[in-house]
Amino acid sequence: MTRSLLVLGGTAWLGSEVARQAVKRGWEVTCLARGESGVVPEGARLVEADRAQPGAYAPVADRRYDAVVEVSWQPRFVQEAVEALGGVADHWTYVSSVSVYGADRSPNTEASPRMEALHPETEATIAHYPQAKVTCEDLTTRELGAHALIARPGLIVGPGDPTDRFGYWPARAALAGDGPMLVPRDGAPTQSLDVRDLAAWILDAGESDVRGPVNAVGEQVPFREMVEAARAAAGHEGDVREATTPWLAMRRVSSWSGPTSLPMWVPPGPFPPVGAHASDRYRETGGQWRPLEDTLRDTLAWERGLGLDRPRKAGLSRAEELDLIAQLP
Ligand SMILES: NC(=O)c1ccc[n+]([C@@H]2O[C@H](COP(=O)([O-])OP(=O)(O)OC[C@H]3O[C@@H](n4cnc5c(N)ncnc54)[C@H](OP(=O)(O)O)[C@@H]3O)[C@@H](O)[C@H]2O)c1
Repeated sequence: MTRSLLVLGGTAWLGSEVARQAVKRGWEVTCLARGESGVVPEGARLVEADRAQPGAYAPVADRRYDAVVEVSWQPRFVQEAVEALGGVADHWTYVSSVSVYGADRSPNTEASPRMEALHPETEATIAHYPQAKVTCEDLTTRELGAHALIARPGLIVGPGDPTDRFGYWPARAALAGDGPMLVPRDGAPTQSLDVRDLAAWILDAGESDVRGPVNAVGEQVPFREMVEAARAAAGHEGDVREATTPWLAMRRVSSWSGPTSLPMWVPPGPFPPVGAHASDRYRETGGQWRPLEDTLRDTLAWERGLGLDRPRKAGLSRAEELDLIAQLP
């Protein structure tokens, strides 16, 4: 029998990839969103609704679904959705985040303590993101009990990434060509998961009825190994110019993300906030890790399509990078 999927979302990155793969598997796919973030994949049905408005779920509540996937981190939306739709879903995945553990404890298993929850009636802003995710997890399990899968992704990467972090490295290596690249000397291990592997696992987990919390995280890869793989994917033949953490800090180069940053870089410090989450449950429940080289190749192709020297949300512009390189001792 044809499986049915409802994505609460489906117009942005991960939700759309989940919907796309489900359509490819022959499932009947409905997405509920405003349609502001993008379009749903071909073959999926968009039900336009604003979840901030009363009755938003009524148009999709008149039937059963084999699986529901929820990506919101707005407690009110999550609460109203589980109340309105919990009874018509055989399996429910709430896409949370490893951010629920906070930045100071590692390695984290699914049983590790989480941050304090945000009050469920608070409207969450990005500053509340980890606490809002905790609240959304709690609201989901309170309403649906052990019925729900709480997927906690770490860093999601691959083609289409709206955060511009992972793509910086292959794109910059390609742009540099036979010119120099600035690379931090030390960095905590990376742990990134291809969006396509995550989406496939979410669909499989619904089919095989995986429940409870699962860290949906990638393999640990030393930072420099990731950069070397990015250089190899792009055929970078220029010099690698290393900079130390204090040198970069003096020049206000940020870590992890954002403008004037070296994306995904986490300098050595007392807390290893990324790259150290236990992946056993993800692997035991069928989670795949495609080779890093494949993710880099496909991400680079996508980055080339956008333009290697486009303004980015994360990273250094080529001019900033060359200016810093010129200042190196
Ligand atoms: N990027 C990472 O590395 C990372 C790491 C860990 C966890 N995560 C989690 O992974 C998930 C990413 O999901 P994503 O990329 O599909 O989604 P997203 O960027 O969080 O998009 C949210 C979705 O909700 C819809 N939406 C927002 N406001 C709405 C409203 N008022 N009414 C109806 N729909 C509304 C949006 O569609 P419209 O705007 O079209 O309405 C969109 O489809 C999130 O849960 C994120 O927290 C990401």
